[in-house]
Amino acid sequence: MKSMSSSRKPQINILNGPNLNLLGQREPEIYGTTTLADIKTSCEQKAIELGLSLCFTQTNSEGTMVDEVQAAMKETDGLIINAGAYTHTSIAIHDALKALSIPKIELHLSNVHAREGFRRRSRLAPAVDGLISGFGAHGYELALEAIHRLISS
Ligand code: DQA
Repeated sequence: MKSMSSSRKPQINILNGPNLNLLGQREPEIYGTTTLADIKTSCEQKAIELGLSLCFTQTNSEGTMVDEVQAAMKETDGLIINAGAYTHTSIAIHDALKALSIPKIELHLSNVHAREGFRRRSRLAPAVDGLISGFGAHGYELALEAIHRLISS
């Protein structure tokens, strides 16, 4: 386990990017019918089971995502990021992730490699430890299990 005081639970931040606030109504045949609020609730439950402290956010702004990645340099032990469409375009988020030395996981609800060509390239993948893609809302719980394993090793 990374050095941290024994009284403090490891802090995990889950960052959600553009249009993920529309989950439940947005292209349900691709993203399912679970809302982001439902996902947050199941992540909070999973975090309790794993003994993790959780911060779960969503923004439509690229700059705010950069700010949130930078903020994770302090007091955060692991980062899970579903950057939505910025995954495929954002050198700024890539650079912020590169500067962040804690374990990091890129997450997608859909299997981006089975979709349009422009989704098959991730700008962020070279800056993270691993990717979870294609498991729908359940992918968030899988990502929490994976980050727990990474910060415990
Ligand atoms: C997504 C995949 C992205 O290509 C897309 O732009 C999203 C959602 C996913 O979770 O499957 O907004 O990140």
